[in-house]
Amino acid sequence: KRAKEGRVDGSTFRRLARPAWLLHRFMAGKKGTRAVAPVQDVTQQPPGGWPVVQAGTQTAGFFFSWSVALRLSLALLLTLPILVLMLPLLLIETLLLAALILMTLKSYLNSFLLESDWYTKILLLSYKKILFSHSRPTARSHMLVEHLAPKRPLLTNYIAYALNIRVPLKSEEDFTGARAATAARGFSLSRWIEENLHKLPMSVSSERFKAGEDPVRYVMERIGDAYPTVTTVYREKLTDEALTQLCFFGLGAHRLYRARTLSSPTEVVDSGDFVVRTNFLADLPVREGLDSYGGDAYFDETTWRIKKIVRKLPRQQPWESEELTYRPGDPEWEYVKFVFRSSLFSLVTLVDHLFAVHMQVGNACVLASRQYLGPDHPVRRFLAPFQFKTISVNDNARNNLINPQSMGPRNFAFTDKGTDLAWSVASEYTPSGAELRAVFGDDQASYLRLVLDYGAYVEFLKKHGGVDTPYRRQTLQLWNIMKNFVNSFLSQYYPTAEELARDSEVRCFVYTLLHELAFTTTNGLVPDPAENVRDCSAEELWQLTSNLLTRYCYLVTAGHEQVGTVPVYAQDVSFCAFHWPKGESCGTKQTAITSATLMSFTSTPMPLLMAEEGSEGDWTHLFEGPVTINGEPVGEAGAVPPAVKKAWVVFQAELKAMAAECDDFNNKALSADAQFPHCFGMWQTHPSHLETSVSV
Ligand SMILES: [Fe+2]
Repeated sequence: KRAKEGRVDGSTFRRLARPAWLLHRFMAGKKGTRAVAPVQDVTQQPPGGWPVVQAGTQTAGFFFSWSVALRLSLALLLTLPILVLMLPLLLIETLLLAALILMTLKSYLNSFLLESDWYTKILLLSYKKILFSHSRPTARSHMLVEHLAPKRPLLTNYIAYALNIRVPLKSEEDFTGARAATAARGFSLSRWIEENLHKLPMSVSSERFKAGEDPVRYVMERIGDAYPTVTTVYREKLTDEALTQLCFFGLGAHRLYRARTLSSPTEVVDSGDFVVRTNFLADLPVREGLDSYGGDAYFDETTWRIKKIVRKLPRQQPWESEELTYRPGDPEWEYVKFVFRSSLFSLVTLVDHLFAVHMQVGNACVLASRQYLGPDHPVRRFLAPFQFKTISVNDNARNNLINPQSMGPRNFAFTDKGTDLAWSVASEYTPSGAELRAVFGDDQASYLRLVLDYGAYVEFLKKHGGVDTPYRRQTLQLWNIMKNFVNSFLSQYYPTAEELARDSEVRCFVYTLLHELAFTTTNGLVPDPAENVRDCSAEELWQLTSNLLTRYCYLVTAGHEQVGTVPVYAQDVSFCAFHWPKGESCGTKQTAITSATLMSFTSTPMPLLMAEEGSEGDWTHLFEGPVTINGEPVGEAGAVPPAVKKAWVVFQAELKAMAAECDDFNNKALSADAQFPHCFGMWQTHPSHLETSVSV
């Protein structure tokens, strides 16, 4: 073309191009101009009708004639020598390059965290890359109404353990925008690596801490600024007094009960000592050389001082059950305390954090809202900040904390079988209501109200179980603030219970959420969802919706802070260790790093719950109209209804007032004249520290 246009010398061009032109003509098999066939009118039926061709009367091969075969063979013969010469060179070069990359990578990975395996190192590096390139997200910048995804069936993966738990894929995330969501559904090398990284082999290093070596300093010198801020203050960690702080004010506060079991919901009893139990983990098998979990810690009902730890040992024979009692001053006392602290830490991490908050309630609510509430539905808008990035977070947890050989199984002492069993019985041991199932007998409705209404649960524990601790009082205050916010919001869109009951989307959402909760448990956490939603009255549905929304919002904020924000425990393997060599009161150096790595990458910053009106954290733009209820638009376009705005402002004001009370409580507790047991602060219920949604 360029020759014809006179832009290059035609004769030179033809001379240079001729071999290629000849080859092209040869391969095409064309010697002249092909005659153009006349165009047939295919709409006209031929005389006699269309011919009928029976199956089997015509042969249809692979469109491969002898002439084609001959041409292909000749082309191959011509190009083969070049390929024969080039391919080995290419292959050798590629292999050399790959070997060079692998050697460099291996050399780099072996140059740091000498006691850790590659999986831990790569995970830590990946998290650092995410952490250092992202700042804390805010509502105004990261929660845009137009990026709320439509309601639809979600693509999900079953998790490796537990019952019926399906986690949506990261690509189903809200607030990513349609383009990003579509791209996320395609193949991604990083996702493939994430899905398969846990298959890297596990290695065991037995290197111990030397006498006088500080495990906290050791961890922080290696993990450094990737480790989350430690807000909880433990002035002592290993003393008997510190055990009271752990169980009344710290990690065990939500598992503190009276030792005597209630037999009916109306019984008021003298319940005896306080107790935190972990002995039900004792029979789960652990890896060779590690000690088993277990220990029930009993505290005096008046002084709150530790009285004894009853430790159940793994059963050797079906008919045997050995329980040993240890008291302060016994030779093994310090070791048994360490076993109890570590068992509690592992129990809370696996059952309360991973299973109950992330995989059960958090996941169920996301599944129900994303599939049955449209992006303009007021309840979906209300939940949006509390579900921010939850799909991605849970998908990460599935990959990096739950999958076999991922960070969870590498940290916990369980064998593969033990991990399987632990997940199987997790629902049996979730706290906050489920443990009272037997007390209510056939009265399922009362039981359901208690499970969903945390306020009623705390009052029940106080009245019938005698549990009235600062932790329960503060969490009750927070629950009431949230319940007030939920009810104020719902009242603006549904002035009467009947109007809420007419909303088919709300009914589907509530039914699905209860259904997910019911069928992800082995003990029937929630009674028959069909009976409790389909047949309930309008007033009951209102209460159910209000409690479910409040329960979810409470769980992903203060609930998650209690069981998931645990850097003070994960930082020190002489305080709490996920696993430890039998008979030693401290985890190994490898345990210290894997534990701290797990803590680091489960602490991705999320938007803060407390926000000033009009600031970056103010999420009231999510309530801009019009919203849609039963297919009808409600509210003015681009405007937040004043009553809804007021509900949010009141919510924030109440959080602020509670934060000031928490500051006051902590200042008094940490003052020099504070007396035991009122000398311990609490930070997990402090509104200033809470985030709107779960992190990994
Ligand atoms: Fe978490």
